[in-house]
Amino acid sequence: QHVHYYTEIDSTQNRCQELAKEGAPEGTLVVADTQTGGKGRLGRVWHSPPGTSISMSLLLRPQLELQRCPQLTLLAAVAIVEAIRAIYEIPAEIKWPNDVLIDGKKICGILTELNAEADRINWLIIGMGINVNTLPEQFPEDVLGVATSLRIVKGEPLRRVPLIQEVLRRLEELYDLYVAEGFAQVRKRWEACAITIGKRVTIRTLHGSFTGVAEGIDDSGVLLVRKDDGELTNVYAADVEV
Ligand code: BTN
Repeated sequence: QHVHYYTEIDSTQNRCQELAKEGAPEGTLVVADTQTGGKGRLGRVWHSPPGTSISMSLLLRPQLELQRCPQLTLLAAVAIVEAIRAIYEIPAEIKWPNDVLIDGKKICGILTELNAEADRINWLIIGMGINVNTLPEQFPEDVLGVATSLRIVKGEPLRRVPLIQEVLRRLEELYDLYVAEGFAQVRKRWEACAITIGKRVTIRTLHGSFTGVAEGIDDSGVLLVRKDDGELTNVYAADVEV
């Protein structure tokens, strides 16, 4: 009874927020066939034409401090990559922090929104948008070169429900593991899915850019980059070019 399905909605994220405010329980899921006002990160627009994608938002109520929120976003990316690898045998990868790529093109984006009181998470909503059956002509011109879909990669239309089930099953398993044992195991699995680790990267932040080698993530999800001058730096927010 915790699944709310809509054929069309402005944004599953907004609907899930309303439900959270009304006291909906952890595990509440909002799924829509199409969104008219899909939200991406950094105020961007997220496109999900009818029949093409998975648009869903999951409500969690972890008893955690605010600063552990990035770990949960990383956890969702692991669930999605592992599900795509398991079902379709496609080598999907994570680009830090949580874009899912195939052949260097984006197949899925994750947007996390939260509400906290006195440094503790009250609720947290993980919004996931996966391009399943999107055809090249359905991508807006500005994202065509950097986006792809499972259908484009596999060469055939795919069913969405099995993928939703597999992602949620893995998310639940990872979340239980995380709550019981902390971030260490999730971090290992994230690193096994990540394209970024061990590679030369260009980091672009608001304050400028630099190059180096991505060595891993720390326990809070911060990217550790060994700069060309040998210094190890923490990257909190940036665009990463691999
Ligand atoms: C990104 O910018 O990469 C994040 C995109 C997140 C899109 C999903 S689709 C389901 C949920 N509802 C929204 O409005 N956005 C997220």
